[in-house]
Amino acid sequence: MNELLKSDFGPDFVWGVSASSYQIEGAHDCDGKGKSIWDVFTNEGKRAHANISCDFYNKYRDDLRLMRSLNIRNFRFSLSWPRMIPNGTGMLNMKGIDFYNRLIDECLELGIEPWITLYHWDLPQALEDKGGWTNRDIIGWFSEYTEVCARSFGDRVKHWMVLNEPMVFLSTGYMLGMHAPGRMGLGNFIPAVHHAAICQAEGGRILKGLMPTAEVGTTASLTRFEPQDPNDEDDVLAVRRVNALVNRVFIEAPLGLGYPFNDFDALLKLQKYMQPGDEVLLKHDFDFFGFHNYTREIIKHSYFIPVINADIVKASKRKVPATEMDWEIYPDAMYHVLKEFGSYENMPKIYITENGAAFPDEIANGKIHDTARVEFLKNNLKSVLKAKSEGINIHGYFVWTFLDNFEWAEGFRPRFGLVHVDFETQQRTVKDSGLWYSEFLRE
Ligand code: GAL
Repeated sequence: MNELLKSDFGPDFVWGVSASSYQIEGAHDCDGKGKSIWDVFTNEGKRAHANISCDFYNKYRDDLRLMRSLNIRNFRFSLSWPRMIPNGTGMLNMKGIDFYNRLIDECLELGIEPWITLYHWDLPQALEDKGGWTNRDIIGWFSEYTEVCARSFGDRVKHWMVLNEPMVFLSTGYMLGMHAPGRMGLGNFIPAVHHAAICQAEGGRILKGLMPTAEVGTTASLTRFEPQDPNDEDDVLAVRRVNALVNRVFIEAPLGLGYPFNDFDALLKLQKYMQPGDEVLLKHDFDFFGFHNYTREIIKHSYFIPVINADIVKASKRKVPATEMDWEIYPDAMYHVLKEFGSYENMPKIYITENGAAFPDEIANGKIHDTARVEFLKNNLKSVLKAKSEGINIHGYFVWTFLDNFEWAEGFRPRFGLVHVDFETQQRTVKDSGLWYSEFLRE
C-alpha cells in the first residue's frame, strides 16, 4: 500500500486524541473534589496513584495549546463525577463544574471540539460505600449525574459518550479485584453488569432527551479472540464464551438483542437481577458506538479457570512482537473487530474512540524516536481504511493517548502518549509519533 493519507479517509472523517479524568488530571483533593474509588484503591492500597499524574487540572491551557499546535482538532476526555458531585448524589461542587467549563471553553476557543465521556471509571467512593455498581440504586444516581452534566455543558458540547469500556471496569474491578474498587467474585460482578447495562441505555436516553441535537454514543473495548487450535472444538467453544462475555454483552443489549445467554450460560445468572421491563430499559438507539481495539488474544480451553473455562495464551509465551502491556502487535485485529461488530444489523455509525500502544520510550537529546508507535498507528489505520472501504460505517479515529499518563494497575510504566511526560518536572516533549500525527493531520 502507498503512503497513508488523511484524504483517503474522506473529508468528514474525524481525527482526535482520547484521555480520561483520573488518568491525567491529578488535583485529587483540590477545590472540594470528593474521593473516587481510584483515590481510595491506590492510596489506601499503597499502590501507584494519580494524585498528581500529569497535573492536567492546572496545566490544561498549555496542554491544549500544544494539542492545537499539533493540528489535533478533537479531544475526547471524561468528567470526574466526584469532582462535580463529591458525594455522588446531592450537593454540587461548583468549583469542579467550573473547571470543566473552563476546559470546554478553552477547547472551543482554540478550535478543538470537546468529546465528553460521562464515566471513565472514577466512581465516587461515597457511592461505592453504598454498594457501587452492585446496588440497583446506581440507576438513579447515574441518571442524576448525567442530567447535571447535560445541563452544565450541553449548550457547548455536541458529542457525548455514556460509559468507557464497561466490561473492562466491571471484570477488573468487580470480578478480578485488579482495578478499583478491588472487588471479586460473580456475586459482585453479575449484578454490576446488569446495572451498568441499564445505566448505559438510560444515560443515552437522558442525554438525548435534554440535548436532541447532540450526537450521543457509548464505547466498548473490542478484542479479537482466536482459538489456540482452530481444530480443537474445546478451544473454539472457549473463544465463543469469551467473545460473548467480553465483546458482545454491552453491544447487543442496547441493540435490543438481550444478553448472549446462548453462547455463555453463566450469564443466565443475570436473570436473578432482572426486573419486569428491564429488557426495554436495556435498549437504546445510540447515534454512534465508540469502538476500541488494542490487540488480539489467543484463547485456549482451561479447566483451571472457573466459570469461563478459558485462558489467554500471553504474547510473551507465544514469543510474538508485543507492546509494554504484553499485548501482541497485531493490526489485523482492528480490521476483524470492525468487520464483526460493524456488520450488526442496526449498528449506527462508528468512531474508533481509542487505539494506541505502550512502548519503552527513551528520551535522548530532547527527542523520542518512537518508530514502533508510528508503525503501530499507521498499520492500524490501514486496517481501519480496509474495513471502511468494505462498507463498514466508520467516521473517525482517536489515538489513545495525548500525554503519557497513569495506566491503572500498571502505574506509570507503560507510556501510551504522543507526548512524553517527565513526571518529576512535568516537562512535555513531543515524541516522533506526535510529530508524525501532526504532519498527517496537516490541512
Ligand atoms: C483502555 C482504557 C484507557 C487506557 C487504555 C490503555 O482500556 O479505556 O483508560 O488505559 O485502555 O490501556
